[in-house]
Amino acid sequence: MNDQMNHIFFNTIESSSLSVIDLISILISVSLVRLLFRVLRKLPNIFRKVFLDDICQNFVDPNADQFTIHPNPNGWAPIAETEQLGRGKVLKVRALGREFVLVRDLKGEIHAMDPYCPHNGAHLGGGEVLNIRGEDCLRCPFHEWSFRVKDGVCIDVPYAKDGKPPKGSTVKTWPCIEHAGFICVWFHNKGEDPSWFPELTKSEDFSQLNFYGRARAKLNCDVYMIVENTADFSHFIYVHDKPFPLTGRFAKMLGFEGDLFEQKRQHLSWKAMKNVDSHKARLEMISSLVFGRNKMVNSDFSATQLGPYLSDFDLNVKSFGISLKLRISAAVISLHSNKQEIVFRVYSPKGIIGYMAARSTLMALSSNIKRDCEIWQNMKRVDKPMFVKEEKAMVELRRWFTQFYDGASNCSIKSADG
Ligand code: FES
Ligand SMILES: [Fe+2]
Repeated sequence: MNDQMNHIFFNTIESSSLSVIDLISILISVSLVRLLFRVLRKLPNIFRKVFLDDICQNFVDPNADQFTIHPNPNGWAPIAETEQLGRGKVLKVRALGREFVLVRDLKGEIHAMDPYCPHNGAHLGGGEVLNIRGEDCLRCPFHEWSFRVKDGVCIDVPYAKDGKPPKGSTVKTWPCIEHAGFICVWFHNKGEDPSWFPELTKSEDFSQLNFYGRARAKLNCDVYMIVENTADFSHFIYVHDKPFPLTGRFAKMLGFEGDLFEQKRQHLSWKAMKNVDSHKARLEMISSLVFGRNKMVNSDFSATQLGPYLSDFDLNVKSFGISLKLRISAAVISLHSNKQEIVFRVYSPKGIIGYMAARSTLMALSSNIKRDCEIWQNMKRVDKPMFVKEEKAMVELRRWFTQFYDGASNCSIKSADG
């Protein structure tokens, strides 16, 4: 009987100790499987982040001053992107130190208006687009007065017996256009009408290409600093030319002079245009990405600056016998004079090669803009800088840029030469 008891007892102990180990291994396996599922579930997100999403960077200091002593320059200023505003829709936007209401009418045309209703101050951003007697209007959400979107004139007060809106019941409208994926308003410090329009250079290219995403960065700085960068050739060497700075040490170990990967420039020029094109300037650059002594990528780049805020890039790259043409539309969305959002929209041919070229261009743009932003964010704008004669392009850019401050008060930008 005792023997039998012992047998049962030991058997119980043996089987219970096995169960504990089993239990632990089951728990570990379950946790591992759950972990695996969690990673798998996140994979599409990781994939989207790396391969599809915008590349965004934020350098903004929440304690930075709202405005610099320099006002916003005059010109076509992007305040939103095309995709943000569908047909028959209304969008509230803060830009250029104020608020706008953007409307895309029922025909698909865009309009920009001041935000407050002249009747009693309701925000028109909550309004509705509708057609009244053949005219596209924005109807105020408060008492349903309707304003013609093309000129802001009130054409309907639904409860006025004589049907007449009071004299002067008009909302201010802003000249508004779309350019290469950006919705722009004409901003002028003296309130003058547009003196030029940003015609699209080779616009047909954009429609034949695929839009593959954007790189963007927000920071505190003056618009001028961003534009000045295009003629600042010497900073290219120290800020942008070493795409993989760590390679220097390995390059030395392997007996290379300089870095393993280096940007070599064969041609660089900046030129302000004249007469009817005087709002334009052009940067041209031919360069190669060199690995050791071999050219990996040859690129032929040109950027046409259209006033202070817009720029169209043409980029032709050639690598391992494959040539590709990319277009980039770049813009500075000026939230106020000391807060800018830089946006690059990248377009390239359809297909996997075009996609890969666009994504690597986005990554390169984003890493280069990061280096600039880290400097601009903490930099002070100097009105009388000290240039050496090799910085002739910067002197010319300064002279060219003064035209955009016509009528701006408190603006002390000067040409470096006087
Ligand atoms: S406040 Fe707009 S209709 Fe009254
Ligand atoms: Fe730069």
